[in-house]
Amino acid sequence: MQRFYITTPIYYVNARPHLGHAYTTFVADTLKRFHRMCGEDARMLTGTDEHGDKIVKAAAKAGKTPQEFVNGVSAEYQALWPKLGIEHDSFIRTTDPAHKASVQALLQRIYDKGDIYFGEYGGHYCTGCERFYTEKELENGLCPQHLTKPEYISEKNYFFRMSKYQGWLKQYILDNPDFIRPERYRNEVLAMLENGVLEDLCISRPKSRLEWGIELPFDRDYVCYVWFDALANYISALGWPENERDESGDYCKYWPGEHLVAKDILKPHGIFWPTMLKAADLPVYRHLNVHGYWLVKDTKMSKSLGNVVDPQVAADVFGLDAFRYFLMREMNFGSDASFSEEAIITRINADLANDLGNLFSRVLSMNAKYFAGKVPALGVRNEADEDLNRLTDDACANYVQLFRQMRCSQALDSLWEPIRAMNKYVDIQAPWSLAKEGSTERLGTVLRTLLEAMYRVAALLWPVMPSSSSAMQEQLGLPCEESSFSATRLDELLKKREHLHSGASIALKSALFPRLEMPAKEEAPKADAKKPKTEKNARGAAEAPAGTKPFIEFPDFEKLDLRVGVILAADQHPHADKLLRFDVDMGEEKPRQICSGIAANFKPEELIGKKVIVVANLPPRKLRGLESQGMILTAEWPGGLTLLSADAPAGSTIR
Ligand code: MSP
Repeated sequence: MQRFYITTPIYYVNARPHLGHAYTTFVADTLKRFHRMCGEDARMLTGTDEHGDKIVKAAAKAGKTPQEFVNGVSAEYQALWPKLGIEHDSFIRTTDPAHKASVQALLQRIYDKGDIYFGEYGGHYCTGCERFYTEKELENGLCPQHLTKPEYISEKNYFFRMSKYQGWLKQYILDNPDFIRPERYRNEVLAMLENGVLEDLCISRPKSRLEWGIELPFDRDYVCYVWFDALANYISALGWPENERDESGDYCKYWPGEHLVAKDILKPHGIFWPTMLKAADLPVYRHLNVHGYWLVKDTKMSKSLGNVVDPQVAADVFGLDAFRYFLMREMNFGSDASFSEEAIITRINADLANDLGNLFSRVLSMNAKYFAGKVPALGVRNEADEDLNRLTDDACANYVQLFRQMRCSQALDSLWEPIRAMNKYVDIQAPWSLAKEGSTERLGTVLRTLLEAMYRVAALLWPVMPSSSSAMQEQLGLPCEESSFSATRLDELLKKREHLHSGASIALKSALFPRLEMPAKEEAPKADAKKPKTEKNARGAAEAPAGTKPFIEFPDFEKLDLRVGVILAADQHPHADKLLRFDVDMGEEKPRQICSGIAANFKPEELIGKKVIVVANLPPRKLRGLESQGMILTAEWPGGLTLLSADAPAGSTIR
């Protein structure tokens, strides 16, 4: 029996699960189900990444010990997945004793081979990324991911001789074109390997700086770098190294596996992990499957922007299967996609309520009306019936092939061809006219042709929408038995055109996907009598009243992110008389440094503790040598200036 082992990244426990985490985990669950449906022995792993600086800081902020803290958030992840219908086979935590032992064995093996050495290192360390950056990698001296200034740290550490494997990895990627897919990410990794020499990887942190990690087996004064620890989860979860040579053990059965990650962690998975495996003489993974980012209204999701989508809320509001369908259909695997209420409602209404739901509803109710809910017999087929069958055959075959290539959106698109064609077929064949004419045999053939094609489509949808697919199969009188999944059954779904039994009772009606109401659009403010009348310009567009700036569109206004900040510290800018320098608490991990040209109006000390309004999404910029990470808003009049304020906690959003 073929085996399939799919993994998600193990998620950091410094953040609560959001749409992005849920997406990767849904894809993994869908793929696992898909491979089960194909009759394979499929297994899925997810888990939590619990060591490192970030976690220690988050725990301290929450007033907990690291262990208490990681137990709490990991439990949230573990509780969430079943609620989202996810059926993972194992859940790994990097604080599990067995994982720790496995990481130590991996380190020891590479150390014994001579590929780990002790050396002095100086570098720019970003706590957000938990990694060192070289001078070249920084952008204007800032971490390219977090736009914060890294700390320069120089210390003795252990290094993995990654550079030794640069040539091998490059050749391996060239020889195995879909090792990293889609292609754009393969090219990105190749570019990383071609642009100069790959540096050795610093894989330790002295305990004097960080204790929360796995001890190096060959030096108890050091803990292991989080990425080295985390990547090993993919094999530690299979019981490596104990069962490395035991054919009946999970490691031999399931490794090498398939990884699923987003583009943010391409480098550790595309470079660190395969070289680590190679150094340990272990086989590399089968494929690294890399997807894009879910954006919310074209912006990155972030806690500070307050636009984080809670997957459980979305599943409750839109329905779990509809939510899953939307995510799988809307994101073209590899590219970014945009999440919005409008997008999900539009997609659900068009594809599920109108196309699929409507098809089931109308065909089952006609069958109830004309054949009392019994499966009608097939008569002679005409060209239109054959066309529909051929289209269904092709679409089903394409669906399976595209799924195997991780092209889930295209796979679903392909399956919607027969669904739409069936709706048209109903319109053209007009069963109601056949009934009126008394053409019972033809009426039976039309409905049976539809029911059969509906069954094949419904059954194949199981990996994406397990409950709805089961409900549809049940309505057609053939309940979905997971125990019957096999390569033969799949082959039958792809090729066999008759599955239902003539005369069997099927559902009399179906109401699978209710249409959703689009939320009322935010209306542009209506011009009322008191407001100055707007003028039209030469092109007929409205012009702003004289004395104000030109009109902007509402979406432009929406781009502004205004927040309440509390001034924690204030002093004179060292190089500019007009500027004051502030540390402002914006409800984020760290206060922001903001410079503002209000030295003529205020003494720094009188502003400490003041609540101000800050434009929070301006890119950081240097003002006379000091970086300013936002702008404080003021109200001005001839001869006067004051600070805008709001009586609300730090980080509150202004709308
Ligand atoms: N702990 C590391 C991974 C170690 S794996 C050996 C980590 N954790 S994470 O919590 O930051 O998770 C990152 C992953 O979460 C992404 O690779 C992706 O799978 C998922 N996503 C997080 N935000 C996302 C979006 N906005 N959109 C899509 N997926 C995203 O990195």
